[in-house]
Amino acid sequence: MASWMQLSSASEKAAIVIRAPETPAEWEAYWALRYRVLRQPWGAPPGSERDELEAVATHRIALDTATGTVVGCGRIHRRSENTAQIRFMAVEEAYRGCGIGSRLLEELEQWARQQGITTIVLYARSTAIEFYRVHGYHILDKAHTLYGAIEHVLMEKHVA
Ligand SMILES: CC(C)(COP(=O)(O)OP(=O)(O)OC[C@H]1O[C@@H](n2cnc3c(N)ncnc32)[C@H](O)[C@@H]1OP(=O)(O)O)[C@@H](O)C(=O)NCCC(=O)NCCS
Repeated sequence: MASWMQLSSASEKAAIVIRAPETPAEWEAYWALRYRVLRQPWGAPPGSERDELEAVATHRIALDTATGTVVGCGRIHRRSENTAQIRFMAVEEAYRGCGIGSRLLEELEQWARQQGITTIVLYARSTAIEFYRVHGYHILDKAHTLYGAIEHVLMEKHVA
């Protein structure tokens, strides 16, 4: 499995491609990554990694072209004419800290701008607040606690 060190050279970083999932295998790997990172550690059942908006949402994966594996993901959906919400941001643990989450976020924000969206909102886990802050999001309010353990805050960014 790749490590931060293995991904430290420019050519190795270039091997990570951000795009929509295309094949059935990529979709399966995408759902599996969401489940493994965002749900399984808290004992949530398979299926809890999806919601009712998958068909209308825009999806991005980070694909390690050297291994053909999906190592990151994120999703955005429109909430109103001017507002969209990002959900399900996840990067495989061994690949964190080398810019993949940032690239995913930037791709989702780019999609939003192209759609005329001016504001993006998201519910950030307390452990991810700093990641979003680095990218210009600010805290609006305290939010829910998932599975009685994962505290969230509502964050917002103006992207117009
Ligand atoms: C949050 C997450 C998607 C970030 O992905 P990543 O690929 O590690 O992020 P990047 O490497 O692009 O980091 C971008 C910046 O955010 C910072 N950052 C990232 N994760 C951070 C964290 N947990 N705490 C503090 N800072 C963090 C990095 O320091 C980096 O800043 P720098 O480039 O100035 O050093 C990833 O850590 C993850 O999957 N976490 C577990 C699941 C999760 O919490 N998802 C979010 C749900 S709301």
